[in-house]
Amino acid sequence: MWKGRFAQDTDEAVVNFTQSLDLDWRMAAADIRGSIAHVRMLAHTGLLAKDEAAVIEKNLREIACEIKDNAFEPKISLEDVHMNIEARLTEKCGATGARLHMGRSRNDQVNTTVRLYLRSELLDIWQGLYSLIAALVKKAEEHKNKVVPGYTHLQQAQPISMGHFWMAHAQAFMRDARRLLAAYDAVDESPLGCGALAGSTLPLDREFTRADMGFSRITENSMDTVAHRDHFLDILYFAAVFGTHASRLCEDLIIYFTTEFGWVKLPDSFCTGSSIMPQKKNPDVLEIIRGKSGQLTGALVDLLTMVKGIPLTYNRDLQDDKRSLFRTLICLSGIFSVLPPLISKVDIDEERANRGFEDGLILATDVAEYLVLHGVPFRSAHEKVGHAVRWCIENKRPMDKLTLLEWQAIIPEIEEDLLPLLSPRRSMERRDTAGGASSHQVEIQIEHANKKLADFAHEFEEYAKRLPQM
Ligand code: ARG
Repeated sequence: MWKGRFAQDTDEAVVNFTQSLDLDWRMAAADIRGSIAHVRMLAHTGLLAKDEAAVIEKNLREIACEIKDNAFEPKISLEDVHMNIEARLTEKCGATGARLHMGRSRNDQVNTTVRLYLRSELLDIWQGLYSLIAALVKKAEEHKNKVVPGYTHLQQAQPISMGHFWMAHAQAFMRDARRLLAAYDAVDESPLGCGALAGSTLPLDREFTRADMGFSRITENSMDTVAHRDHFLDILYFAAVFGTHASRLCEDLIIYFTTEFGWVKLPDSFCTGSSIMPQKKNPDVLEIIRGKSGQLTGALVDLLTMVKGIPLTYNRDLQDDKRSLFRTLICLSGIFSVLPPLISKVDIDEERANRGFEDGLILATDVAEYLVLHGVPFRSAHEKVGHAVRWCIENKRPMDKLTLLEWQAIIPEIEEDLLPLLSPRRSMERRDTAGGASSHQVEIQIEHANKKLADFAHEFEEYAKRLPQM
């Protein structure tokens, strides 16, 4: 394409090293759609005769079919998807095809193509995230009365319900949904018409192409437009944070699935066995997801590092921006293919969970708060119950089974009415503060989550409606 300026052909090693076809060929349909918008605008502004524009659009559509039918063999020597399609167009309709690129640079073209491509990719990611959150909320409804130990420092802390546990993870993923919406919004602007870096001397109509491609707005500064990749960073940040959330969920389930904890039951169809140990049932799916979160964080660091030192505006470093982005999208859709169905099939063994309550010490805070309600200052209540805990451990007595006499020998303020409070279920249900562990509070959370989920779905549907016809 630049043969006019050069006296030598490009070295073959350079051709191979500088190509981006391996990355951008998958965006061929989006690239063609961007070119159609451009050509329509050229006709609209009178820069191109209407009949010539019609010929170009028709030929572009034919090329799209060739690609779909695998009848288009792109050449690495043409560097990327953009040049391959343009070369094919000129091959098909000669001088008319050669007019397509007026008023356009690959710098704004690449940008346009990726944004067109990403919008529908992000809508798919949303579908995956939606199904994950929906699966968690459904499990929460199913398990809101199943009492299990809650942990801090992985040490037993206070009783919760498994419903509260599922909703805790659902909350994290709902924050991710908000980040995904923000990333979509960042992608949803039209760069076409910014040219190489400074706009054009031709009377381009950027608003026309924006509307044709269904973007929300046009970008405001041509230099910034071709130089930045913030919209990619937004996606990668969403994905990295999502990855940490998914990893933590998986880690919890892996722990609860061990023989030592043992109250989470994973479906056979989502576990794998061992080639040597016949007894094994391993949570490999969860482990792989936990591992993949490293890739997701790595992708964010990769792009942040790439962009931090490049001068305005476009530099070729940016060509590789899509490498970790596309890997990220593939990684996310892999996670979404297994995690929501796995969650839907998780079962609980409440009896096993209750074995964890055998020493009754998980109820210690309840006793301290009982004393507070009987006028004891919290610090001395804490100390008194601390002594009781020590007494129980030394005398091998479960705290929830002490008689009134035993209690009163350690803490004289305690009366008969403490005893019926000392069960894990009662304890869980009495934590009825807003956002607390009681089944009533979990029901409120579930209701909010369903509403939020519907609101998110609505926002994404509105976005989907604005995607252009091919
Ligand atoms: N293949 C390149 C890319 O994907 C095209 C960039 C063209 N711009 C340039 N100034 N060389 O980014």
